[in-house]
Amino acid sequence: MRILEKTGDDILLVALPTESVYQGDYLEIVDEQKIGSVVVQVYEESYIPSQSLTEDIIREQIIEASANGVELDPFEISSVSQMIKDMRLLKCKVRGSIKNGIMVANVAWLPSRSKSKIKKISQSKLLDLAGQTGSAEIRLGTTKDGESFKIFGEAIDGHLSIITGKKESGKSHLSKLLVSSLVANGAIVIIFDLNDEYEGLGFSRDGTKNEVSNRVVLLEPGKNLRFSLSYLGEYSLISLMQHVLDAPGASLREFIRIIGSLNSSDKLSIDYLGDAIQNWRCNELVKDALYARFQTLKSAGIFTSDEDRGVKVDWVVRSLLSEGGAIVVSLKSSSSLTKRIVVEIILSKLVQLLEREAIPPIFLFAEEAHLYLRETYWDDIVTRMRHFGIFTTLITNQPDAINDSIYRQADNIFLFNFTNQTDLDLIARASTADSETIRSIVRTLPKRHCLILGKVVSDLPMLVKVGEAQFLTLGQTKKFFGRKSNNVKLESSPKLVLAQEAVA
Ligand SMILES: Nc1ncnc2c1ncn2[C@@H]1O[C@H](COP(=O)(O)OP(=O)(O)OP(=O)(O)O)[C@@H](O)[C@H]1O
Ligand SMILES: [Mg+2]
Repeated sequence: MRILEKTGDDILLVALPTESVYQGDYLEIVDEQKIGSVVVQVYEESYIPSQSLTEDIIREQIIEASANGVELDPFEISSVSQMIKDMRLLKCKVRGSIKNGIMVANVAWLPSRSKSKIKKISQSKLLDLAGQTGSAEIRLGTTKDGESFKIFGEAIDGHLSIITGKKESGKSHLSKLLVSSLVANGAIVIIFDLNDEYEGLGFSRDGTKNEVSNRVVLLEPGKNLRFSLSYLGEYSLISLMQHVLDAPGASLREFIRIIGSLNSSDKLSIDYLGDAIQNWRCNELVKDALYARFQTLKSAGIFTSDEDRGVKVDWVVRSLLSEGGAIVVSLKSSSSLTKRIVVEIILSKLVQLLEREAIPPIFLFAEEAHLYLRETYWDDIVTRMRHFGIFTTLITNQPDAINDSIYRQADNIFLFNFTNQTDLDLIARASTADSETIRSIVRTLPKRHCLILGKVVSDLPMLVKVGEAQFLTLGQTKKFFGRKSNNVKLESSPKLVLAQEAVA
């Protein structure tokens, strides 16, 4: 390989057809006369653009087609000329330099064109040089060279991450790998699961329980996930009425009074609320508006008047504190309104608990969050909630469902394949990495491969083939043909650690 040109932070290299360097690979340009080397990443390969080569190829093609003859080539010139035609032009981005065994982001000098030696450098070595360390190892899979590739939970801790890519590219699979490693390292993770697939984290691939099965708590709205109004308290109830049920100002004021009066007489429960609204003395229109909303709430089927049967978010979290665990909130069979109510309650409770420092920081994994997250929570996720200690990972196959400003503030982005130009443009525009790299690498990514950007890889975009999982992978798209095969029977569903047990 040789350097051909440099413009800005682009370096052009020429490579022989036999040199095994491909898109995504990192190269180290070592200039012996300087102390240190330049690190570049190949983002596109092409042929050498040359008019004379093009003419040669056309001429050859015409001769081949029109004249049959014996080819004599005593000096084997043709093999050299074939090689020239197959020479590759590697477009590379400068990613930094290595000096005294440390990788730094800037390069203050130009490597020699004639004397530099160019060699491949492995992704894991680069991460070491860039100072990626930590104790919470997450094994993601392998690099193109077959090396195992790991990141550290510390780079997800305290940060916002996004996993995106087209349908069935392996996003949820990666997200499950992250969750299971975080849990193995003692973290508490809450997952908003839309496909009933995260329950599998507690099982081995044959359907038997694994070592974390008693730390995976499955919460199903209406089944084992019900709340008592007294647990929700005024703050969450008012926030529900205001944000999910869109109660106008006047109704909200009356609602606050009704809740207050029920609370003071110790009767704050779903059974009393309806009557209290009906018998409340106020404007009939306001009363009707409130009663209609009360019925909507009740029909969601997630409230109970039995205090003991109600789930208490803090108790569930505390029951997992000693070893870490996953709380899977299954939203698959809930209506869109129930989804929004459940998410609102859980998030508002978490924020209250974190504000009081009653629980340690937690990780939140949200699949297709635009389906249930209210408008104002988006900014909260990147600002307020992060400060309190909710570190979110958003997973979506619709990149435009997430605001540009959220991409710009994301600390880590895991990108799977996108072929749609609009999606590619959006990601390329919004993320911090250079758009050429994203456009050319992401378009050609095979299934299950992802390009990682951000803090987890020290801002050095890296390609990884996501590995197989040790746990049971559920959530396959149901198909008509072959629907009788592939049914793994689960040993028995992990149980909700009920509030009382948790405290005992
Ligand atoms: N690295 C991998 N190794 C083995 N199987 C994988 C891997 N990645 C994904 N799969 C499998 O491929 C299928 C699709 O993956 P997954 O459900 O993660 O995709 P997705 O991007 O979340 O899809 P959707 O857009 O439908 O949510 C699943 O059956 C999953 O188990
Ligand atoms: Mg998915």
